[in-house]
Amino acid sequence: MKDVISIKDVTYRYIQDEEENTALNEVSLNIKEGEFLAIIGHNGSGKSTLSKLMNGILMPTSGDIKIFDLNTKDPENIWKIRQSAGMVFQNPDNQLVATIVEEDVAFGPENLGVSPKEIRQRVDWALDIVGMLDYKKQKPHQLSGGQKQRIAIAGILAMKPRCIILDEPTAMLDPSGRREVINTIKHLNKDEKMTIVHITHYMDEIVDADRVIVMEKGKIAMEGKPREIFSQVEKLTSLRLDVPQITELAFELSKEGIDIDSNILTVDEMVNQLWQSN
Ligand SMILES: Nc1ncnc2c1ncn2[C@@H]1O[C@H](COP(=O)(O)OP(=O)(O)O)[C@@H](O)[C@H]1O
Ligand SMILES: [Mg+2]
Repeated sequence: MKDVISIKDVTYRYIQDEEENTALNEVSLNIKEGEFLAIIGHNGSGKSTLSKLMNGILMPTSGDIKIFDLNTKDPENIWKIRQSAGMVFQNPDNQLVATIVEEDVAFGPENLGVSPKEIRQRVDWALDIVGMLDYKKQKPHQLSGGQKQRIAIAGILAMKPRCIILDEPTAMLDPSGRREVINTIKHLNKDEKMTIVHITHYMDEIVDADRVIVMEKGKIAMEGKPREIFSQVEKLTSLRLDVPQITELAFELSKEGIDIDSNILTVDEMVNQLWQSN
């Protein structure tokens, strides 16, 4: 399958008060069309910097980033890139610009010069996908955090991107808001075939990803399927990360001599294993 995003030998340095801070150090990564990629890592490991490089908000200090063969370094490509790789950020309040939901979702395509008729179709289509069509005429500030974040996602969808990059979109939400947003992301990937890059610090949100990248000090420290990543409990702990609670429990039980796989990811798997070992 084609690469949506190709990152080659990318280093990024912030320069602040004449001091240099290397946020990313020689990172290479390819993201395939239709993939659900999760990125985890401790605070300051370079996740947000990487996401901002992916849609041309930041330019690499060295190395190259291409979105469908368009290099982010070429100023002529920048609008095409921003449209192809949509970004969703942590705080939904900073992303909503209009006073009515449907106007907010229309904002992106309006700026792209899409015709009013098509904008109306796209707004309904995008709101339907995120399950917010009934809220079309509402005021965003009256919605819950999870609902606002789904409106922000609809606003990106209405630009018909090839890929959506979400930088800790659930960090400010309560558990039910988190669930709404995660279900929306999964639906986009599975049913709408959207390429997803999901940055999070909640381990249970990455169980369904096709691939997980673990960042540490500006480098990719681990890479693999969720099960491969979570089976390395001690390595994750050394990177100051947790495993899902159920995996932690299985790991502790197996250390105590109970016959159980330590790479369990769901409650159902745990129940099955405990039944079998009896
Ligand atoms: N605007 C900035 N100016 C200077 N340094 C920054 C800036 N933003 C991030 N950094 C530094 O870059 C490194 C990576 O940060 P970031 O990409 O935000 O990590 P993460 O998203 O994983 O928490 C950290 O050391 C952070 O302090
Ligand atoms: Mg961050």
